[in-house]
Amino acid sequence: MRKLFVRLIGYGSVLFASAMAVASTELPQYAQDEHIGVATCASGVCHGSVRGRDATSVLQNEYVVWSRMDRHRIAYQTLLTPESKNIATKLGIGKAHEAKICLDCHADNVAIEKRGEKFQIEDGVGCEACHGGAQRYISSHVDVDSNHSANLSAGLYPTDQPKERAELCLSCHLGNGEKMATHDIMGAGHPRISFELDTFGALQPPHYVVDDDYKAEKWHGSQIDLWAIGQVTAAKQTLALIDDRLEQGGLFPEIALFDCHACHHSMSEKRWVASERSALPPGAVRLNDANFVILLAIAEVMADGSDVALTSELKTLHLAVNNNGNYSASIAALTATLEKVHNKLASMDFSNSAEELIEAMIRGTIAGNLTDYVVAEQAIMAIDMLLEYRGVREDYSQWLDQVYSTLQDEDNFSPEAYIDSMRRFGA
Ligand code: HEC
Ligand code: HEC
Ligand code: HEC
Ligand code: HEC
Repeated sequence: MRKLFVRLIGYGSVLFASAMAVASTELPQYAQDEHIGVATCASGVCHGSVRGRDATSVLQNEYVVWSRMDRHRIAYQTLLTPESKNIATKLGIGKAHEAKICLDCHADNVAIEKRGEKFQIEDGVGCEACHGGAQRYISSHVDVDSNHSANLSAGLYPTDQPKERAELCLSCHLGNGEKMATHDIMGAGHPRISFELDTFGALQPPHYVVDDDYKAEKWHGSQIDLWAIGQVTAAKQTLALIDDRLEQGGLFPEIALFDCHACHHSMSEKRWVASERSALPPGAVRLNDANFVILLAIAEVMADGSDVALTSELKTLHLAVNNNGNYSASIAALTATLEKVHNKLASMDFSNSAEELIEAMIRGTIAGNLTDYVVAEQAIMAIDMLLEYRGVREDYSQWLDQVYSTLQDEDNFSPEAYIDSMRRFGA
């Protein structure tokens, strides 16, 4: 995360604007279409132009942006580094670049029979890992009378839709039923993973421009909408993982579902403080509930009582997991509430709520409810985005840099210093 915060210091993000219909689709890795390979998309007359073009509806330099600036391009190469070799050796899984568990996130690891002639696993997280196998849309998507919905029917994944986009990114940046960066993998040296849909979309960086052509066919709601749907989707996916993976034999449940910093900090640091949020006793291991806590701020602004439900259900889940109680019931209750919040989000207008959202998060921080590192990093990414949305990020850049500096070293994170820096908001 340190690297990310260094980059976020002084960065400004991209702006989107309003909403469209939602389609539901299988993730590219598991859908039926053949993946024909990045080389097929990369030609100079298709997506391999060096400069963005104005005359066509897409920039046509997507390949160049991806290959020169996007870390997904090197995701497979990462598996060849000494760091990855070391992880794989410690895990006893053979070569990292041949291990399914690594390739599932570091490449477009579709089944062998779904790999076309020009497909190369070495291309890492390539175009079709996000946009879906091009077998059927490859020819139709360049027809003069083709349109976006025809492409979707021909296998294009709806990356423009926030929920589907979130599910796609989170499949690798959080994990899903099929793949996860477990604590075994973390213990062998894998970096901790965190994600926020809007911020990471801006950092990728984007290889598209939301212009009139784009708006005519694709979802183009605000950054706040994207962020909020990213949070609720991540919370749902986290719950599904808890449901799936908590009870998996052995003495301990899947440890990566818990807040890393609950266990990993120095014993001489007396960090524990009572929290309204989880009501856990000292010495308890907390689930990583960062997305839920951020969602609480969103629900507070919704003002329909869902914050009350979320608060009590989250507390019940924490206690049930801690006491080996019946957490299936809490998961069911929370899932229903998240569904409600998600549906409500579709009709929410956040355009005048940026300030209220910021205030809710700062209030929560000062009250001691948003002070776990994993929550703090979500809160500051959100506040950064909201200031940008209001067009006042510049005015707050010094303050933001101060907050980021308290978050740069997660191993020596001081909640007090972080709270202090948050208190100085607007000063
Ligand atoms: C198939 C798995 C996969 C999918 C899908 C995926 N990513 Fe990634 N992403 C990765 C991997 C693996 C890395 C690390 C690459 C490396 O450095 O080796 C990464 C890195 C990144 C980084 C760089 C992070 C850093 O610390 O510099 C950003 C930003 C990012 N992804 C954003 C996204 C967004 C936004 C989406 C969804 C639109 C997405 N990713 C979808 C696997 C994936
Ligand atoms: C659930 C998906 C997932 C799995 C499984 C996974 N990774 Fe990763 N890995 C990621 C993501 C996402 C990142 C980027 C994190 C970030 O920077 O935000 C990453 C980052 C890394 C990095 C650091 C890259 C850098 O230079 O910053 C290494 C090394 C790595 N992974 C190796 C492995 C190895 C080896 C395996 C198999 C044992 C593996 N990964 C399995 C998703 C995954
Ligand atoms: C990590 C995921 C990811 C990867 C990898 C990726 N894209 Fe995208 N791409 C997106 C997202 C997200 C959008 C924006 C939403 C949309 O337009 O559907 C997008 C948009 C696009 C667009 C639409 C531009 C417009 O104006 O409508 C094109 C064309 C495109 N990508 C081509 C490519 C090509 C070619 C590659 C490979 C060289 C690639 N993408 C790799 C996620 C990805
Ligand atoms: C329930 C407590 C607990 C949680 C939560 C936890 N860990 Fe661990 N972690 C451990 C223990 C115990 C070890 C083994 C320490 C040892 O072997 O000395 C360990 C080992 C590690 C190591 C290897 C350290 C070494 O000395 O080689 C890393 C890296 C690591 N964890 C990362 C993480 C990350 C990232 C997370 C969050 C996704 C996390 N841990 C969550 C308890 C935890």
